[in-house]
Amino acid sequence: MLSEWLAPRAAALESSGLTRRLRPRPAGEDLIDLAGNDYLGLASDPRVVEAAVAAVRAWGSGATASRLVTGTTELHAELETALAAYAGHEAGLVFSSGYLANLGVVTALGGPGTLLVSDEHVHASLVDACRLARSRVEIVPHNDVEAVGKALADRGEPHALVLVESVYSVLGDAAPLTALADIAQQNRAVLVVDEAHGLGVTGDGRGSVAAAELAGVEHVVVTMTLSKALASQGGVVLGPGVLREHLVNRARSFIFDTGLNPAACAAALAALQVLEAEPHRPAAIHTAAAKLAAACGVPPSAGAVVSVPMPGPRETVQAAELCLTNGVRVGSFRPPSVPDGVSRLRLTAHAGLSDAELERACAVIVSAVKEVS
Ligand SMILES: Cc1ncc(COP(=O)(O)O)c(C=O)c1O
Repeated sequence: MLSEWLAPRAAALESSGLTRRLRPRPAGEDLIDLAGNDYLGLASDPRVVEAAVAAVRAWGSGATASRLVTGTTELHAELETALAAYAGHEAGLVFSSGYLANLGVVTALGGPGTLLVSDEHVHASLVDACRLARSRVEIVPHNDVEAVGKALADRGEPHALVLVESVYSVLGDAAPLTALADIAQQNRAVLVVDEAHGLGVTGDGRGSVAAAELAGVEHVVVTMTLSKALASQGGVVLGPGVLREHLVNRARSFIFDTGLNPAACAAALAALQVLEAEPHRPAAIHTAAAKLAAACGVPPSAGAVVSVPMPGPRETVQAAELCLTNGVRVGSFRPPSVPDGVSRLRLTAHAGLSDAELERACAVIVSAVKEVS
């Protein structure tokens, strides 16, 4: 029964070049990686690895229960304090993924009395959060501050959230945060900024909200994943203490989910300590991103993500395969991961790439794109 049901769907995906396939990655492979999000190269840093190992020895292999039962260890508390202090916020609440952090904050603040104004390019986790929130949702054109202002001003709801990313995960461009925070304030709304691609990358690592001097401002809330520059797993919501309190009581993706694994907590904390002690690290990401963008003839990135538009989904996959054959792994993004329907190669710059690796990667990518286009 299930095969009859699913076979036509699989065929439709295949015929439009949109089938996704899992490709298990062997340990220690010898490739130039421009697809992962280990922006600072900390996933294999001995300080981070050893911290995770020590946490397993001290706390065991899992958190054992929800954060509200036995799942909050001293490590969770330390990580929340450290993340909030680093990014300039009063308080933080750690979730077991960035996806769940986004679901948690939007659903806990959402509901019939809250309008959600969402940029058309926000990550799937914010899209799903809108779907779950039982709020009216207005999707506005990308980075259109005027449209945000109009949606907020015309609303009947007493409350509103504006949902954006600081550095967009597929496009690699930046949100106009100062203008968005102003328009949100004028309209008594809260700006929620997903800094998944800002933490460890922009504003010397502290993110774009801190760089725009908006950290700690009452109507600006930040979410982050710990799975990219911090080389671990997990997510966090940062903002006023009163918000943290509310989320502990109302965010279902916090309450009904097992706490973040202690090993992941310790790894993220160790990575954050490396980042604080070595603030020069993010600069290398920008140098690498600029070289990749120039070689591919696309606009510079606001962070690590370099987005290369392709003629279609098939060409995108073919180009990524060609790159892989030549020792360079790149990301390929196709609908539905691209809201505007434009398939793209997604290149992520890393701090640890040597000049020779970058040069080789650029040559391989440019030649692959030419061959399939
Ligand atoms: C912008 C953005 N938000 C949220 C997430 C989800 O974070 P996590 O992987 O920790 O669930 C991601 C990526 O995975 C992302 O790119």
